[in-house]
Amino acid sequence: MVPLALYIHWPFCLAKCPYCDFNSHVRERIPQTRFASALRTELAWEAARLGRRPLGSIFFGGGTPSLMEPETVAALIADATALFDPLPDLEITLEANPTSVELGRLAGFRAAGVNRVSLGIQSLDAGALGMLGRQHSAGQAVAALEMARGMFPRVSFDLIYARPGQSVAAWGAELREALALCADHLSLYQLTIEPGTGFEALHRRGELVLPDDDLAAELYHATLDACAGHGLAAYEVSNLARPGGESRHNLAYWRYADYAGIGPGAHGRVTLGGELVATRRHRAPEPWAERVERQGHGSTAEERIGPRDRAREMLLMGLRLAEGVDGARFAARTGMALEEALDADVLEQALEAGYVTFRDGCLAATMEGRLRLDALLGQLVA
Ligand SMILES: C[S@@+](CC[C@H](N)C(=O)[O-])C[C@H]1O[C@@H](n2cnc3c(N)ncnc32)[C@H](O)[C@@H]1O
Ligand code: SF4
Repeated sequence: MVPLALYIHWPFCLAKCPYCDFNSHVRERIPQTRFASALRTELAWEAARLGRRPLGSIFFGGGTPSLMEPETVAALIADATALFDPLPDLEITLEANPTSVELGRLAGFRAAGVNRVSLGIQSLDAGALGMLGRQHSAGQAVAALEMARGMFPRVSFDLIYARPGQSVAAWGAELREALALCADHLSLYQLTIEPGTGFEALHRRGELVLPDDDLAAELYHATLDACAGHGLAAYEVSNLARPGGESRHNLAYWRYADYAGIGPGAHGRVTLGGELVATRRHRAPEPWAERVERQGHGSTAEERIGPRDRAREMLLMGLRLAEGVDGARFAARTGMALEEALDADVLEQALEAGYVTFRDGCLAATMEGRLRLDALLGQLVA
């Protein structure tokens, strides 16, 4: 049985960043005890219906899970490893922000069993950190990174590039600095404008202008080249690692394995009674907690995913990966051959244009293809 990946969502942040549309909320006082207990209750409920399964990874995401009490993280890890069968090399990741509030907690997270930290550094440039509305300086971010590297076996960090006015040369210099600090994994995201964010309002008024497609492509190529020089390969569109440093948890999503999502707004794809089921939790934190307190879970409408939708989702996720979508794995998950799920004419054109390759039963997007992934997927999936 393919091991389960478990996602646990912590919905609170110190401040809301103007680019971010994740399910994150600011509260004067974070209701720690209530949410710790609700998360544990919902995990037990989910585990009861999933039954004992091998557990490959746990990921504490947010929001800002480094604002959780380390005792809560320890309790959730203890519950998960008792309710499922953890693999000996269980990967346990926690997303952390590099503000002083969290630095004091890192040792507690390590003692709780976390073995991988993903730090939200976003930029090493003071002006950019201000523009992004971050609560930390570049110096604090570097200090947090050094502390984390001394404490955790695996450390990754996130940067946001393709920011307004950013030249290839300026990004190159920032990235070189980042590469000198990096361990075996980096997440490098191009800034996107998300609906309902502060940046969207600025963008609509023409006060925030993103790089055009040509510059964005140039920035992407420059990013991959610089990282390759440091032995980091883009195993996914925005995620780079040295061999073996890949995030196993995120690989489970992209390979379309079963993953369970606990906490407000979390979603999952889990096999239940032989069917693949899409799960979703109520998004607003307090109403989610009320539901958990009342009925043991905050689950909203769930639906069975039929073969066509499984095929579409698996291609959508898998073509983000350099390794692509494996035909045998695809058939096992969807009951369909890869060729059956694809529009033959569009596939032919995409092969000719060099956007995809189809070798040894495996369909993969090339780097050029990955730059046009959304448009490509819209047409390719029959
Ligand atoms: C769940 S979020 C944030 C984790 C953590 N709270 C933090 O702020 O560091 C994960 C990552 O998504 C990226 N991200 C969020 N919104 C983005 C956007 N609009 N454009 C590009 N990257 C974004 C950021 O790099 C962020 O670290
Ligand atoms: S980027 Fe991180 S800290 Fe900022 S609002 Fe989003 S989840 Fe919270």
